[in-house]
Amino acid sequence: MTDTHVHPVQPAWRERALIDDATYRAWYERSVADPEGFWAEHGKRIQWMVPFSRVKEKNFDENVSIKWFADGQTNVAANCIDRHLASRGDQVAIIWEGDDPNEQKKVTYRELHESVCRLSNVLKDHGVNRGDRVTIYMPMIPEAAYAMLACARVGAVHSVVFGGFSPDALAGRIVDCGSTFVITADEGLRGGRKVPLKANTDKAIEIAGNNGVAVEKVLVVKRTGGDIAWRENRDVWYHEAVERASPVSEPEAMNAEDPLFILYTSGSTGKPKGVLHTTAGYLVYASMTHQYVFDYHDGDIYWCTADVGWVTGHSYIVYGPLANGATTLMFEGVPNYPDAGRLWQVVDKHQVNIFYTAPTAIRALMGAGDAHVTKSSRASLKVLGSVGEPINPEAWEWYFNVVGGGKVPVVDTWWQTETGGILITPLPGATDLKPGSATRPFFGIKPQLVDNDGQVLEGAADGNLCITDSWPGQMRTVYGDHERFVQTYFSTYKGKYFTGDGCRRDADGYYWITGRVDDVLNVSGHRMGTAEVESALVSHDAVSEAAVVGYPHDIKGQGIYCYVTLMNGIEGTEDLRKELVAHVRKEIGPFASPDKIQWAPGLPKTRSGKIMRRILRKIAEDEFGALGDTSTLADPAVVDDLVANRQNKK
Ligand code: PRX
Repeated sequence: MTDTHVHPVQPAWRERALIDDATYRAWYERSVADPEGFWAEHGKRIQWMVPFSRVKEKNFDENVSIKWFADGQTNVAANCIDRHLASRGDQVAIIWEGDDPNEQKKVTYRELHESVCRLSNVLKDHGVNRGDRVTIYMPMIPEAAYAMLACARVGAVHSVVFGGFSPDALAGRIVDCGSTFVITADEGLRGGRKVPLKANTDKAIEIAGNNGVAVEKVLVVKRTGGDIAWRENRDVWYHEAVERASPVSEPEAMNAEDPLFILYTSGSTGKPKGVLHTTAGYLVYASMTHQYVFDYHDGDIYWCTADVGWVTGHSYIVYGPLANGATTLMFEGVPNYPDAGRLWQVVDKHQVNIFYTAPTAIRALMGAGDAHVTKSSRASLKVLGSVGEPINPEAWEWYFNVVGGGKVPVVDTWWQTETGGILITPLPGATDLKPGSATRPFFGIKPQLVDNDGQVLEGAADGNLCITDSWPGQMRTVYGDHERFVQTYFSTYKGKYFTGDGCRRDADGYYWITGRVDDVLNVSGHRMGTAEVESALVSHDAVSEAAVVGYPHDIKGQGIYCYVTLMNGIEGTEDLRKELVAHVRKEIGPFASPDKIQWAPGLPKTRSGKIMRRILRKIAEDEFGALGDTSTLADPAVVDDLVANRQNKK
């Protein structure tokens, strides 16, 4: 990849900005030279019930252990709500924009406080205590944020499951963390279509019950009023319960290292992992990155289009912005409903200043044509952000020039569920921008590139991205499986956190994320393991074996390409192909829909039986001229068949 055009910091950005280049350099130097001093200072940005005296306790070696501010006590909900009541009780905390453009709602900090306090009491009345796990399976409505904050207020640990996940996936997550309390809605609404959340929850609870976890209570928000099944003694209407509950609730004093939430994410092997984030360090890091990366100023209207079911929604719709007393916009709908101009209509309608979305949305809207954008004003915009996958320079330039009119910085933010907050990113007033590069590390972040043997690469280089020191927002463990945490992140390269991403550093010290180097796919910004799609496929009676790889996709970033070997005597028909697609959607969720299925009489395996994915990736990319050495294959002839029947002929 060659360097693209550089966009220098414009004078207007620098004037407005909290951080200029000299400040970035000075703070960064200090943050890595004296992390204790740096974070002791910035740890005070949140409000403590008991101040901390300890700062960083990190061991990335054999007994991996990470603690921040460990002897302090605080409450995340109090920081996100109560703390602001005196100064901004009547300021809007949440602007909710419905799927239907005629539906909206504004919630002030005072109203947020009352809703969260009432819900906290509902939780307590039903016996939810500190440390208990609560599953949240919700559409994008304010009650999703209330639910997260109410858990934080009473010290319960939330596990938000994206509303696009299937009953099976939801059940797996309920069982893994032993959660007996679920908060959901009757139905969700996206792009004019209904999502059967309660029906999915009912199915999930049945599956969980067969796997040893009995869900005792389901709190149901009435969103659409659609028909749902009702189980007396188990199901409780949200609106009835909060109305009965007291509006007075004291936040629990939580230890800094008490768990705040679990969020399941996919890895290269096995079932999804419960990424565990704790209380104080997470909040310090989420709020600090929200302020500086988006150059957030008091009074700004801030909009992140993510779903609360993903980490971006946790850190940059709910916790970061609310900790900073921001007005955060929550959008129930999708970018192309009622038409491809929706996002910009919403920007104008609510005078959004900071807008944060994913490359897949940018590429889709770019394809729909500039007219949808240019018919809006967008004059309120001050910062544009991108997250979730590499952004190709063409999409970056379109975002910058067409959406931002060439006047607004684009921050390409690299991070992960595991990192809690943004690690590599431009700062609007400090960083000259290079389209496609996430640019430079945030304060306290020490990136390192290593080759496959773990040799450290200096200067301009291409390698595997590791982080060599801890930061407050880092995940602490895999829920219930610390060994897996150590194995997954700290065993590939000893003493370092390995991100799973490939990365290039250029001569200016800018970082360019090149994508995952493991078997993790990123499809429209949705992360999934190839192994998960494979196990969904082989759970179908007709399938004997499956191998799944990603291939470049114009809109989605990556598409899902499946090689499927059928059981003896079963024929690969068009109907079966459709059935398998439907099967994977049912097992995982609609977003995991296979794009291509190729019938494979055999898969390329080494003599020891290992599938050679490198070859499968090349064929899926239609780059079979570069298959490399196939002589170690048990049966080299299978490759010829796969090449002849490839589904992605250019
Ligand atoms: O491969 C990187 C990609 O998304 C992965 C993390 O996915 P997830 O945990 O779902 O979190 C997504 C939202 C933070 C990373 O390992 N990724 C994320 N942001 C970028 C990115 N790749 C390139 N550029 C980015 N800005």
